[in-house]
Amino acid sequence: MTEPILLEVKEVSRSFGKFQALRQVSLEIRAGRLCALIGPNGAGKTTFYNVVSGRYRPTGGRVFFEGQDITQAPAHRRVEMGLLRSFQITNIFPALTVLENVLVPLVVQHGKSFACLGSIAKRRDMAEEAEQILSRVGLTGQSHRVVSTLAYGDKRLIEIAIVLARRPRLVLLDEPTAGMNPEETDRMIRLVKELSERSETTFFITEHDMKVVFSVAERIFVLNQGSLLADGTPDEIRANPEVKRAYLGGSLDAAGL
Ligand SMILES: Nc1ncnc2c1ncn2[C@@H]1O[C@H](COP(=O)(O)OP(=O)(O)OP(=O)(O)O)[C@@H](O)[C@H]1O
Ligand SMILES: [Mg+2]
Repeated sequence: MTEPILLEVKEVSRSFGKFQALRQVSLEIRAGRLCALIGPNGAGKTTFYNVVSGRYRPTGGRVFFEGQDITQAPAHRRVEMGLLRSFQITNIFPALTVLENVLVPLVVQHGKSFACLGSIAKRRDMAEEAEQILSRVGLTGQSHRVVSTLAYGDKRLIEIAIVLARRPRLVLLDEPTAGMNPEETDRMIRLVKELSERSETTFFITEHDMKVVFSVAERIFVLNQGSLLADGTPDEIRANPEVKRAYLGGSLDAAGL
């Protein structure tokens, strides 16, 4: 069975002055598949996520989410529709506890003002939901810790928990393992894989470690100098002569793939 298309990007371009960071990129993301966007530094990956998440408008082309044209939709509207980009660590409140950080987006998600939190029953419901989300990302038992006291890898897991609290359909994760040690990287990648298998959320990640990409992604998109060079399964990408020539040759050999 073919899964429905969640995200459809049609001939999207983005220029900064005379520089073309994205050149007529077209791709489709289907529900339920863990997809990865790869490419050398400066290939346009972050720019692509900025266009899809609504931070930048494309200078050409269109973006559709679940069949709706969102090319001009503001970022907050995309979030309401279930298209989220990971918040950077700077969006976490370091002085609040882990639980409170997840409660904030839950309150927003439930459309409740903070005043409503005065109701003890509602507070309990939301706290339970927050605890459930924290257990899904492996932070059980950490809820009452103040975020600033946590290790870097745990802070980035809170980022994922905050995203999950919005019940997303599609999550764009731009280098979720950046700055992590090998154990933290392994934990983050296993989590993303598990969430993409067990939840209603589809993940689209960028990642520089080719070993990681080829072991977890079901579909890989390759950007090179702003153009989509290839799109396929890990085996197809590995065997693609153009990809090898332009980019992967060295990285694949280095990663022993
Ligand atoms: N706001 C901006 N203004 C001008 N140029 C920009 C802007 N954002 C990105 N660029 C340029 O667009 C190109 C693509 O950048 P982008 O950050 O999207 O690459 P990337 O694939 O995410 O790279 P990396 O792997 O290093 O994160 C780069 O040459 C960058 O300098
Ligand atoms: Mg980038």
